[in-house]
Amino acid sequence: MRFTVAIDGPAAAGKGTISKAVAAHFGFAHLDTGLLYRAVGRRMLQGEEPVDAAQSLTAEELEQGDLRTAEIAQAASKVAVIPEVRSALIDFQRAFARRAGGAVLDGRDIGTVICPGAEVKLFVTASPEVRAERRYLELAAKGGTVTRDRVLADVKERDARDAERSTAPMKPAEYAVQLDTSDLSIEAALARALEIIEQNL
Ligand code: C5P
Repeated sequence: MRFTVAIDGPAAAGKGTISKAVAAHFGFAHLDTGLLYRAVGRRMLQGEEPVDAAQSLTAEELEQGDLRTAEIAQAASKVAVIPEVRSALIDFQRAFARRAGGAVLDGRDIGTVICPGAEVKLFVTASPEVRAERRYLELAAKGGTVTRDRVLADVKERDARDAERSTAPMKPAEYAVQLDTSDLSIEAALARALEIIEQNL
């Protein structure tokens, strides 16, 4: 069965948690596309030219080291505005989306650009304050020394860069179902996402 679930939305809205759980529930493969931009961002921080990095990126790099740091997140959103970086990553994402057995992809432009024909499109949001608090708790649990104010400022800066760029800006796709998780528990958000997908299976 070829079945694609596109899940987009801003940082820390719950996309990752929902995507993983949806994939596990239906036995679909899952690709966190933010990792692609993070891996390119990491290479840029190491001095590499971002377009070269995107063109030579390997799937193995997505598994190597911790890509989920605040510094790499900012670098990712900077390389993500470069059209040639984005185009170099398209084929890998589309091939993943059409694999047999179903796929869930989460990111910013999955429903709009990567998989406009996805069977289900979700746009998961939450207020910047709620998202910053979640991200702060995640980073603090990993032993980071970051402050709440810093995380909120970072979240807002990244949102603006992602929403305002000219190539593949973050926005809900046509026919995407919007899911605001600000006042939902993880369980409730997941239940709602499963319900929406079930209706389209
Ligand atoms: O989702 P995550 O926070 O890991 O994404 C890191 C950055 O990668 C985002 O802020 C965004 O700039 C970029 N990104 C993107 N398109 C995607 C996924 C991520 O531009 N599909």
